[in-house]
Amino acid sequence: MSLPTTPINVADYQRLAGEILADGPLGYFNGGAADENTLEANELAWAKFKLRPRVCVDVSSISTTTSVLGHELSAPLLVAPTALQRMAHDDGEIGMAQAAASAGSLMVCSTLASTPLAQIAAAAPSAPRWLQLYLSRDRAVSESLVEQGVNAGASAIVVTVDAPYAGRRERDLRNGFVVPPGIDMPGVTAALGRSEGLSVEEFFSIVDPSLDWLALEEFISGAPLPVLIKGVQCGEDARLACEHGVAGIIVSNHGGRQLDNVAATADVLGEVVDAVGGQVEVLVDGGIRRGSDICTALALGAKAVLVGRPALWGLTVGGSAGAADVLRLLADELSLAMALLGARSPAELNRGHLAKNG
Ligand code: FNR
Ligand code: LAC
Repeated sequence: MSLPTTPINVADYQRLAGEILADGPLGYFNGGAADENTLEANELAWAKFKLRPRVCVDVSSISTTTSVLGHELSAPLLVAPTALQRMAHDDGEIGMAQAAASAGSLMVCSTLASTPLAQIAAAAPSAPRWLQLYLSRDRAVSESLVEQGVNAGASAIVVTVDAPYAGRRERDLRNGFVVPPGIDMPGVTAALGRSEGLSVEEFFSIVDPSLDWLALEEFISGAPLPVLIKGVQCGEDARLACEHGVAGIIVSNHGGRQLDNVAATADVLGEVVDAVGGQVEVLVDGGIRRGSDICTALALGAKAVLVGRPALWGLTVGGSAGAADVLRLLADELSLAMALLGARSPAELNRGHLAKNG
């Protein structure tokens, strides 16, 4: 029998979550596309950037606080949109919202949330939140979701563009994964009449694969909130996104769940930051597991990072308190890493703090 362990880092939470979850939900949360090369690369790529500390900087006071699209956050760390959080723990999205609020973070609520948006908002009324949107084939469904988002106090919309179809998730295929009984995704049920029993491919069928830049621009011009685009992976698309009116860019490959063998986000972030040239804020996600990874992302020019699986592992292990602990420990690691790098605030991090890429 193994000794009880108190998790002290994200890897501990990952291991403990793996002991708690059944194969289906675990495969869905942890899995990536095809051979999972990008899933692995996302995690490894951050550490390939070697940090380059500056010494004899007065680091007696460090602040990780920052602002992201005008929101004051306690750290440059947001909760990425992830589907089906009630599958991790009964606390579900309500627990995640409370965790984000207690950590001074911002939660991005998924179109595929397993809790109605109004209930998520009621759980943390004063915390900032954004709505992640999969533009639906049936635009009326998306409009209704946006309206619910506005009513739930969302201050921005994040349109995810890297998933016109679900990637080839082989863990889900092997496990025969479907949405378990008793779990509803209101954003899917509104379009398909039900959620329970649907496979990943089936619930992704709500997504409109015809979305192009013009359709996105049309959506942005009619949207009641600023719109960020999530899933940009090259400089050309970052420039196009700016031309078409986005308020922010999230560099993401969906946590390696869509097209396998795309580059790790750490390796395309610099290109995107350079292409954007400061026109809008650039955020990044994928494989962030340590405070030092956040330092690297910020040094490359990201305004903040998002974490998907780490927050889900925290939720799985300890409900809302577990998710909050994951966010706090990442912020604590960031603070220490900044001090040891000689950067007193996120704004002081720059490419001079990086030695070389791989
Ligand atoms: C996701 N992701 C995601 N993205 C999105 O825009 N809408 C969604 O509903 C989901 N759902 C989802 C479920 C699960 C289980 C995972 C793991 C991921 C992608 C997510 O927002 C983010 O891009 C990645 O999770 C980032 O990688 P890490 O932090 O998980 O390595
Ligand atoms: C996923 C979705 C829901 O990655 O975005 O499974």
